[in-house]
Amino acid sequence: MATERTLSIIKPDAVAKNAIGDIYSRFEKAGLRIVAAKMLHLSQAQAEGFYAEHKERGFFADLVAFMTSGPVMVQVLEGEGAVAKNRELMGATNPKEAEPGTIRADFATSIDANAVHGSDATESAAREISYFFEESDICPRG
Ligand code: PPS
Repeated sequence: MATERTLSIIKPDAVAKNAIGDIYSRFEKAGLRIVAAKMLHLSQAQAEGFYAEHKERGFFADLVAFMTSGPVMVQVLEGEGAVAKNRELMGATNPKEAEPGTIRADFATSIDANAVHGSDATESAAREISYFFEESDICPRG
């Protein structure tokens, strides 16, 4: 399997629960390396831009309001099959459907406060990484 990069966001609910370390530990135990990271309090414009593909969806305003409600931790994860591996660790979008032991099963409370975001494909990963990071911010450790 190829070495990939993916964008991960620990959302305001999980940051407020002081779960950054626990979630980072899950990434690292699964063989994913954190190669760039920063904490941000997203502006309305930053959140709207990041989720622009969902702007026609009924939940868009709620999603933007939630993502701007407190700080988030944004990181680039690198490793073999990083996109799928991160999605597996995260669990289903709706925590009620998330497999036991996944991040969302353990930390998310609802479909909107669902603890983490992860890119869904290598193409979206490249776009999402460049939304938050310059190439020079990333420290490959492969
Ligand atoms: S899709 O159709 O697969 O693109 O959409 P999905 O992955 O289900 O959801 C995209 C993001 O929108 C969030 N979401 C919601 N937010 C608030 N309210 C409701 N009802 C809701 N439904 C979905 C969902 O958490 C996804 O956020 P990210 O950050 O991409 O995981």
